[in-house]
Amino acid sequence: MKILHASAEYFPYIKMGGLADMLASLTKEQAKTEEVYVALPLIGTMGKEPKWTGKEYKAILPEDANETTMAVSLLSSAKFLEAEESDVKLYFFDSELFRHLPSIYGQAEEHYRFAIFSYACYALSQILKAEVFHAHDWHTALSLALQKNSPKIIPSLFTIHNLAYQGDHPHWMTGFLKEDPFRLVTSPFDHNEKCNYMKAGILSAGQITTVSPGYREETLREPNGFGLSYVLNKRGNDYTGILNGIDAEEWNPDSDERIFQTYSVKHWKEGKRKNKELLFQEIGRPHLPLDVPLIGLIGRLTYQKGFPTFLQAFLERRHLPHRYVVLGSGDTETENAFFHLSDVMPDVFYFYRGYNESLAHKIEAASDFFLMPSLFEPCGLNQMYSHAYGTIPIVSRVGGLKDTVEESSDIRFKTGIVFEPNDASSLGYALERAKDLYFSTEIESVVKNMMNLDWTWTKRKLEYDSVYQKAIELLK
Ligand code: ADP
Ligand code: GLC
Repeated sequence: MKILHASAEYFPYIKMGGLADMLASLTKEQAKTEEVYVALPLIGTMGKEPKWTGKEYKAILPEDANETTMAVSLLSSAKFLEAEESDVKLYFFDSELFRHLPSIYGQAEEHYRFAIFSYACYALSQILKAEVFHAHDWHTALSLALQKNSPKIIPSLFTIHNLAYQGDHPHWMTGFLKEDPFRLVTSPFDHNEKCNYMKAGILSAGQITTVSPGYREETLREPNGFGLSYVLNKRGNDYTGILNGIDAEEWNPDSDERIFQTYSVKHWKEGKRKNKELLFQEIGRPHLPLDVPLIGLIGRLTYQKGFPTFLQAFLERRHLPHRYVVLGSGDTETENAFFHLSDVMPDVFYFYRGYNESLAHKIEAASDFFLMPSLFEPCGLNQMYSHAYGTIPIVSRVGGLKDTVEESSDIRFKTGIVFEPNDASSLGYALERAKDLYFSTEIESVVKNMMNLDWTWTKRKLEYDSVYQKAIELLK
């Protein structure tokens, strides 16, 4: 089967969060049995130079190329450049709208840039004669509306990675969608008096998925539907939750070249200790104690991730022996709070502001626990990376976190610690339980349970296959 994905992110070329990891690892698995293509934007700063094949493709369909609108002229002067990444073919959209960007999001004119990109992805699906078209998040959602209106409609799937970001824009900004080459009737996409690209994707796709069954349920109600639960309920029969998988080659403590010392389940204790010792040296805190719990936190410092709840719990539980290593960037208020703690409590708290892939791996390998206090979490990947590294996740009971971490009273099934979201005392109590677990012999079984879990794509790829089949059946 020929599958074309359309996405704004793909690891390691463009990564802002989990979407990049999810799509790179899913397509790697799919490419074992299918022909897999991915359409991506080409931006100014890329994580890796693509391996170009020299082939180029048009970004506009011949029947649309004779019109005279601004959008048509932009699409006519743009093209897709083909590159290879293992067995996956990547198609980078080379356009003046993207070429200069230092990063993919947060730049002006996103309503226009991603609409043009969405058209280009739609055109590419027709040019490549894809058998399934799979778009991700609001950035490529309009391509599904174009697909639905197409004379040569291709079975389609829309995956929602995060409903908090919807690409909603005032109508005065989106009038161009009525013109060539889009020719869309946009009134069905109205939501709160704005044109909502996410809603367009939900209404137009053959099938819809999100990245965990738990999050699927949450999005069918408010507040986690972020205003769109009514549309998701309308499409409820075509809406499935499929848990993300992880790339077990990229995230494997036994072969990870980014960590100080590799280790397997047999030698996890020695391996972690060495990684902890060397991490403390690298971050300039060689005096930090090795025999107390080290808790790692990594992520975008945004509302979603719930860091203020952690800060409150941390201050309330100052008596605990835990040490903390935090990596992330985002909201200034949270960054400043972390800088402050790092400054006034250097023996307890370390904060690295920024994005650092290699440090993320080192923190996973060195930490005893990994904290994710999210207020909502469509899937979350770090709890699964933590399992692979024998690092006990402490997570809030939301979305994909509650689907993957179990604080069972039966030690055979325990794979982490779970607390109630947005609740500092519940989080504080979880930190107390972490201490008890760290100093008990139970920790051996828990680490073994976790390191033996299989979070790879092998089974979950099949779940995508069956949703693709549903989308295909719909058009028969
Ligand atoms: P989200 O996509 O909501 O940000 P996920 O848990 O799905 O959350 O994925 C986040 C990914 O981004 C993980 O691989 C995490 O390690 C990585 N990440 C987030 N912030 C940073 C950072 N500052 N440095 C390195 N990696 C980061
Ligand atoms: C989003 C979500 C995250 C999920 C990722 C990959 O960014 O916030 O929970 O893991 O997408 O699907």
